[in-house]
Amino acid sequence: MKAAIVYTSITGNTRELAENLYQIFLERSVETAIFRIEEFPISLLTQYQAIAIGTYTWGNGEIPKEMLQLYKEVQSLNRKDITTAVFGTGDSFFPNFCGAVDLFRDMLYVHTNLAVTLKVELLPQTQDAPRSQKFVDLMLKRARIRN
Ligand SMILES: Cc1cc2nc3c(=O)[nH]c(=O)nc-3n(C[C@H](O)[C@H](O)[C@H](O)COP(=O)(O)O)c2cc1C
Repeated sequence: MKAAIVYTSITGNTRELAENLYQIFLERSVETAIFRIEEFPISLLTQYQAIAIGTYTWGNGEIPKEMLQLYKEVQSLNRKDITTAVFGTGDSFFPNFCGAVDLFRDMLYVHTNLAVTLKVELLPQTQDAPRSQKFVDLMLKRARIRN
């Protein structure tokens, strides 16, 4: 297994973004698995060369509680050979837009090989398509899954 997308979503915005990214991975002919966080066997983390984490933001720029175990697990694994990326949706009405993406980014940068981040306003729109393609391509380039 090469790449995995692990995400959380309550109202569907982040799920839509995760599914869009999944389609792009498939268009690039990359073997990819997609999981909701509740379905992700955390023991499989190290089986992937590249992991994209998707999250909405809660509270005052916080990581949703269902993502905290994943956050701590990746932090303690400390695997610089695993390429990661983080994406999310948020609402710029809030002062800390996509704050959970920033919190994941800071941890992933220290403990993994962080490739790229992507923030989207609520439901992904047409203008987010090229940004999503760039996200996947930078991730694959960093992971050297495709040249
Ligand atoms: C109580 C509450 C707090 C939120 N706090 C933030 C926030 O601090 N920053 C932000 O960018 N979005 C915030 N949001 C907006 C959600 O992150 C946004 O609607 C997101 O797209 C939801 O993703 P989902 O559809 O995948 O569940 C908040 C939403 C709610 C209901």
